[in-house]
This record gives sequence, C-alpha cells and structure tokens, in this order.
Amino acid sequence: MTKRWLLGATIVALVLSACTSPSGSGSGQASGSAGEPVEVFSWWTAGGEADGLAAMLEVFEAEYPGYTFENAAVAGGAGTNARAVLATRLSQSDPPSSWQGHAGQELIGTYVAAGQIQPLNDLYEEEGWLDVMPAGLIDLISQDGNIYSVPVNIHRANVLWYSPSALEAWGVEPPTTWDEFVDAAATIEAAGATPLAMGEQWTSMHLLETVLIGSLGADGWQALWDGSGDWASGDLTAALETFASVLDYTNEDASTLTWDQAAQLVIDGDAAFTIMGDWAEGYFKSKDLAPNDGFGWAPSPGTDGIFDFLSDSFVLPVNAKNEEGAIAWLKVAGSRAGQDAFNPIKGSIPARSDGDRALYDEYLTSAMDDWAADEVVGSLAHGVVANDAWKAKIDTAIGLFLGDHDVAAFQQALVDACASDGACS
Ligand code: GAL
Repeated sequence: MTKRWLLGATIVALVLSACTSPSGSGSGQASGSAGEPVEVFSWWTAGGEADGLAAMLEVFEAEYPGYTFENAAVAGGAGTNARAVLATRLSQSDPPSSWQGHAGQELIGTYVAAGQIQPLNDLYEEEGWLDVMPAGLIDLISQDGNIYSVPVNIHRANVLWYSPSALEAWGVEPPTTWDEFVDAAATIEAAGATPLAMGEQWTSMHLLETVLIGSLGADGWQALWDGSGDWASGDLTAALETFASVLDYTNEDASTLTWDQAAQLVIDGDAAFTIMGDWAEGYFKSKDLAPNDGFGWAPSPGTDGIFDFLSDSFVLPVNAKNEEGAIAWLKVAGSRAGQDAFNPIKGSIPARSDGDRALYDEYLTSAMDDWAADEVVGSLAHGVVANDAWKAKIDTAIGLFLGDHDVAAFQQALVDACASDGACS
C-alpha cells in the first residue's frame, strides 16, 4: 500500500525566512552560557518517557555544558495536568524555555492562534531540517509560511498491547476486529481477567478514536475533521454503539488508574489487552520486558494498514526563559543524535528520516516500516486533528457518556461540538 497522509492540513507554501528567527539561532556553538536555567516543560514522568527525556538531556549536557537544565515535567498522561499548569503560566507571561506540544491543531489552533510561540524558519534552514523531516509533518506545524516547533518523534496511537504468554495460556489470539474481541472476551472473563484495561478519562478518548478509525476507516475518520463528514451519520451511530459495547469489557476502576497502571494490569495478567500509544512500549521496556517476549502488539481492531499518528514537538515561546539556551535545546531535539538517544527508550521513532535503524528494537523497526507504508491519520486525544476548544467539548461529551452510555445523546453532543467549535462551524 502506498503511504497517504490523511490529515487535512492546508499545504502551505514554505517561505524560508518569512519571519526572522530569534537571535542566537545561528550561533551553532557548543559552549552555551550560564544565567537562567533552560527550563523544559513536559509531562514525561512515567517509566520509559522520563528515561527517554533523561537520555536526550545527556546529549544536551554533552553538547552544551555551560547551561543548567531544569526539568519542569508535570505528571499526568497526555498532558492533562501539565497543560493546565502551562496555561496558567502563559496567562501570567511566565513561559518556560520550551515545552513539549503536539504537532497539528493543538499547536496551530491553540498556541500559534494565541501568538504564544515563535517561528523557527531560520533554525530549520541552518540545521538542514527541511531535508530530513517529512513534508507532511512540516505542514502540520506551519502556518502562513512560518514553521513552528521542532518535532522530536513519531508516535503510533492505535496499538493493541498484550502479554504473549497470557494469551497463549488462555488460547486467545490478538483480535483483528471488534467482533473477534467480543468472542475472545468471554474466554478471558471466564479465566477471571479483564478483557481490556483502561485508565482515566483521556484514555477513553484514546480508545474512542481507535474504535472510530477501526469502524469508519481512514477516510471516514479524516472526513470528521476536515468538515466533509457527517457527525450525524448512521455509520457514526454504529461506531459509537461499538464503543459502548467495548466499554462493557473494561475494568471498573478505570477512572482511578493512570495509563501506565492500566498497562501494568496486562503485564500482571489481570487484563488481556490495553489500547495505548507506543509510549507503552517504553513503559514495558522500563519494566525489563522485551518485545515479542514480555509484551506483544497488533494494530487495534480494524486498523491494520492505518497509522494513527502524533508527534511530540518542542516550541520556542514568545519571551522564552533563557532564549539562547532554549534554542540550544531545540537544536538537540531536532538533531539525529538527540532523536536517536531519546526515541529507542521513549518507544517512538524519530521524526527525522535518517535515524539509525540499528538502534531500534523489533517493535520500533516494525513501526518504522508501518510509518513508511501505512495510511497516516491524525490523533484526537494527542492534538493532531482538533484544537483545544473543540477537543474540550468532545471530552465533556465523553465524560457524560461514560456515565450514561446514551449513544443518541452522545452523538448529538458531538454534532453540536463540531458546529460550535469545529470544522462544521
Ligand atoms: C502523549 C504524548 C506522549 C506520551 C503520552 C503519555 O500525549 O504525546 O509522548 O507522553 O502522552 O504521557
């Protein structure tokens, strides 16, 4: 299959130097300077993601020994807590040196729209990044000829994780459709385990997006975000009904668990599967589990050949704390050395096309192959397809739905969200 990007991004004519990048971006010197710390804000605190950040920090400290690094990570998967803290800081004109955001509408429709981050065109030219970053990804972080942020990785969201030995003991195969999942669920429940481990609310948005992609296909999913789709359609009703039935097979304590605690249920044999982005592989490896041994993976049901994508991307804020140091951090995040230190541990593949494949394990090389061949769609839960206002409305609707399982009311709320804050407005 030939790779297609189904992201609805406006193709921008990139005009290098359309805006002048901040001073210091061209120095290229490896010495650095003291002063305020280089404060890097993220939500990478769990096993795997914190370790990946530490590995990239080692590269930074080796290349820029004169700077003091300050890790401003705020715990909470998908940035649920961190982004609230960041919003408060931005409202007080107190930005860090850089923060981890998501390529796509979270960046363009939120931070760029609010004038909170600076374009980096000169840095891209100096570092040669236009030659090594995918054009489709550059489109997602650009507006009006200006490029905002430095993507450090590519994550896949639509992954079904399991324990090979547990499935073997139960005589269960990884399901390729939701019907197969329901068939397997009876066996799993009879063995006393939960079919599908889920965590706090954002993980149910993550699950919803994979169910919708599996039900509607890549084109049907994309149509919801570019204004060409019908949120009131019968196809979407059927997909939401599937979501409702899948929720019946999740753990009752989901709302009290973080994403990694939900993944731990799979490792412990208390649950058969979890659907999570491939930062879960970073978590599994932090627990000394090896791919195809301690953990296995498959595309989430119905999504074979589709890569539900997101990218962590570091920004340069307006009034960045220690701007020169921030630019040094961005250079490391965009470099081959930085990405090849970070991604093998984080459980992601480099955003750059020239990563050293030999450094990546069996799962990650399979992700590289899928990234090269699959149809690429964008994640809702991780910032690609909807800006914060639209996503917040959808999140509210999900919260209600988790309580009442009322498909008709849920679908109407999604129709309304698209009309008030989304592509239907
Ligand atoms: C995502 C982020 C990943 C990972 C995950 C769980 O939003 O892009 O890098 O951190 O949240 O925390």
